[in-house]
Amino acid sequence: MDLRRLLPDAAVLDVAAAYGDLRLGERAPEGRPWLGCNFVASADGRATWEGKSGGLGGPADREVFARLRCSVDAIMAGTHTVRVERYGRLVDDPVRRADRERQGLAPDPAAVLVTRSGDLPLEAPLFSDPAQPIFVYGPTTLADPPGEAPVIVTRMDDVTAAAALADLRQRHGIRSVLCEGGPTLFSGLLHENVVDELFLTVAPKLAGGGAAHGITSGPPLDELAPLAIESIHEHDHFLFLRYRIEG
Ligand SMILES: NC(=O)c1ccc[n+]([C@@H]2O[C@H](COP(=O)([O-])OP(=O)(O)OC[C@H]3O[C@@H](n4cnc5c(N)ncnc54)[C@H](OP(=O)(O)O)[C@@H]3O)[C@@H](O)[C@H]2O)c1
Repeated sequence: MDLRRLLPDAAVLDVAAAYGDLRLGERAPEGRPWLGCNFVASADGRATWEGKSGGLGGPADREVFARLRCSVDAIMAGTHTVRVERYGRLVDDPVRRADRERQGLAPDPAAVLVTRSGDLPLEAPLFSDPAQPIFVYGPTTLADPPGEAPVIVTRMDDVTAAAALADLRQRHGIRSVLCEGGPTLFSGLLHENVVDELFLTVAPKLAGGGAAHGITSGPPLDELAPLAIESIHEHDHFLFLRYRIEG
């Protein structure tokens, strides 16, 4: 599937060429992994259609989404997103797992869940797949999750994403994490100032319903977070924007 690259220079290339071999772990700052967030939004800024993100996307968006999963050590997702989107094994295609290994990554990216309430989405297929490594960060009262998946639970007095990220780097050697939302977790990560990049797909669709359902939610940031564009690709009227978060 070809993408038209508009920035940094004009070219036509397939998704593998545009989003393969990103070597994101090499961008890790001191003390934590590199953290990127990936979202799709309608042209009027909505992050969901009928309660999920899938209706906003398209074939190229799904391919970019899958490619990005092949570029990182771990995938972080909000507990609500894992529940609503019924997350299962993150890379279930053996060809993609082989591609990860070719890039020097483990065949399966780890899943990372952070919960302050301890309310884990245990019903999601993720927790019953023995091939899916999972890191859970939660409160001191959190019980070990049942299920077949190998889960490492880390309990903390004060659960923050920043503390989880630091632990992933220091104790588990995780150098790159992609957060797949949702808006509540993304906002929390921005407030904690731990996001390095934003991959945003702008879908050529209007959803209506107002701006309250965008890719962030909750209280506004104390200051505007400036972005710098790294690349823009286009396919079938979808725009694929890659931003660096400055400062
Ligand atoms: N358009 C897209 O690309 C996209 C992507 C993902 C999701 N979505 C949609 O977004 C919706 C789900 O998003 P959501 O905003 O409701 O929930 P969410 O962000 O998926 O999950 C929120 C939960 O994450 C946990 N969390 C852990 N650390 C946090 C932190 N530092 N700050 C904030 N939360 C933290 C909290 O659990 P505790 O309360 O246990 O602490 C919180 O309740 C679904 O409809 C999904 O389809 C869209």
